[in-house]
Amino acid sequence: MTIDLMERLALLERDGTEAIGAAEDAEAVERLRVELLGRKGRLTTILRELGQLPPEERPRIGAEANRVKELLSTRLDERKKQTSVAGREASAIDLTLPGRARWRGGIHPVTQVVEEICGIFETLGFARVSGPEVETVDYNFTKLNTPLDHPAADMHDTFYLADGIVLRTHTSPVQARVMEEWQPPIRVVVPGTVYRRDPFDASHAPAFDQIEGLAVDEGITFLDLKSTISEFARRFLGPGTRTRFRPSFFPFTEPSAEVDVSCQICVGAGCSACKRTGWMEIMGAGMVDPAVFEAVGYDPERYTGFAFGMGPARIAMQRFRIPDIRLLYENDMRFLEQFG
Ligand code: DAH
Repeated sequence: MTIDLMERLALLERDGTEAIGAAEDAEAVERLRVELLGRKGRLTTILRELGQLPPEERPRIGAEANRVKELLSTRLDERKKQTSVAGREASAIDLTLPGRARWRGGIHPVTQVVEEICGIFETLGFARVSGPEVETVDYNFTKLNTPLDHPAADMHDTFYLADGIVLRTHTSPVQARVMEEWQPPIRVVVPGTVYRRDPFDASHAPAFDQIEGLAVDEGITFLDLKSTISEFARRFLGPGTRTRFRPSFFPFTEPSAEVDVSCQICVGAGCSACKRTGWMEIMGAGMVDPAVFEAVGYDPERYTGFAFGMGPARIAMQRFRIPDIRLLYENDMRFLEQFG
C-alpha cells in the first residue's frame, strides 16, 4: 500500500511535468491544474487514501505529496506565464519592437539665429522689412556708391539674370529701397538671402543669408552706431561681451568698420575658434555715405545715419561650433535634428 502510494506520487510528478510542458496555452494550463491538483484531481485522490495508511506511515507519504504538489503548482504558474507571452507573439504584435516616434519638424539653426537677432533689434526699435532677391544693378551697386568698375564690385561678381538684372549680392540695396519709400526717422533690419559667384566650400556658399540694418535721422552719430551694436552684442551673446570697431572700407559707408566681439568660447583669452586673437568678427558697419543719401534724394546736410550688415550663418557656426558652412545648406536630417 505504501509503495503503491509512493509510486503513484512519482507517476503523478512525471506525467504532470510532462503534460504541463506540452500545454500550449493558458487555458490548457488551467485545465491541467484542475486535473492534477483540483478537488477531484489526481493528487486529492491520493491524499484521500492516505487516511487508510497506518499512522506511522502517514507523515512520510504526506510530506512527499506536499513536495509534488508544490512542484506541480510552481510548474503550472511558470508555464502559464510562458504561454501567455507566446500567445501575444502569435497575435503578431511584437511588444519588444521600439515604438515609432512621431516626426517633428524643427527650426533651422540659421533661422533660429536670424529670429533671435531680428527680435533683439525689434526691441531696440527697428522694424523688420524685406526686399527683392532679384535686383537691379542700379540698386545693388550704383545707388550704393559702387560703380561697376569700382574694385569693390569685384568681390560681388554675381549671377546676371538679364542685362542690368542680378541676383542681389547683399541685402544693402534694401537700404536704398526703404529710404526712397519712407522718410526719416528710419530704423529697419532686413534679413534675406543673397547670392554670389563663390565656390561652395567649407567657408563659402553661393547663396547665404544676411541681415542688414539701417538707422537714419537728424543728428545720428558714430556713438549711436557703437552703442546700438554694443547693446545688441550684449543682449545676443551675454552681458560681459565686449565689442571692438576696426577701420575698414565699404563704398556705401564713411567711415566704415569691421565689428568684432570678444570670443564667445575663450572669453577673450585666445583659443582655436578665434585663431588666438580673443576676438570674432561679426559684421561690417559704418556711417551712411553722403553719396548714398544723394542717390535716394535725401539731403546729406540734414540727415545722418548708420548701417550694418552681418552673416547669420557665420554667427550660427560660431555659436554652435559648426566647422563647415555646407552643413547648413545640405538639408541632411542627421545634422539638422541636433538643433530641434
Ligand atoms: N553689404 C556688405 C557685404 O555684403 C555688408 C555691409 C557692410 C553692410 C557694411 C552694411 C555696412 O550695411 O554698413 O559685404
